[in-house]
Amino acid sequence: MSTETKDTTLKPETIEAIKAHTKRYPKPDGALLTALRMAERDVGFINPHVCEQVADAIGMPPAKVWGTVSFYTTFRKQSDGKNIVYVCATLPCALRGAENVFDYLSDKLGVKKGETTPDGQFTLYKAECLGSCDTAPCMQVNEDYYENLTFEKIDQIIDDLKAGKSPARHVTL
Ligand code: FES
Repeated sequence: MSTETKDTTLKPETIEAIKAHTKRYPKPDGALLTALRMAERDVGFINPHVCEQVADAIGMPPAKVWGTVSFYTTFRKQSDGKNIVYVCATLPCALRGAENVFDYLSDKLGVKKGETTPDGQFTLYKAECLGSCDTAPCMQVNEDYYENLTFEKIDQIIDDLKAGKSPARHVTL
């Protein structure tokens, strides 16, 4: 089903889980990120309709929920492709060639920052520090990290993903 026509109504059990989680905090703000992750897992991405339901479940203005989603690049958006590529652009990675990594991926995939390939396979983003500075330059694809990147490693990762395979993690310490 296309994401444009997908029903983004949260399941009743997701709403109940969000409400139960929210009760653990003195203010709903503390529960917001986890609530959004629960909603994301339910329907696959976050859009304004999902934000409204999360806002209602935890008792917070929808605009505040949407503001949080907009701030964090790691929430999956409706327009995102199957594989979301986040290239770390913070200083330690920048000093070890992150800009070249990003430009290489941009050329290879034929997309600019925030764009999705026409086949819906890849969306390319820059990210703040991914917490793996000692293995810079690095990137995250969906839930997985790829570190000490070289152009050859990037070629292999992208080729594997295009083939539907799970790429080797390429961690070299
Ligand atoms: Fe890239 Fe920390 S600066 S992982």
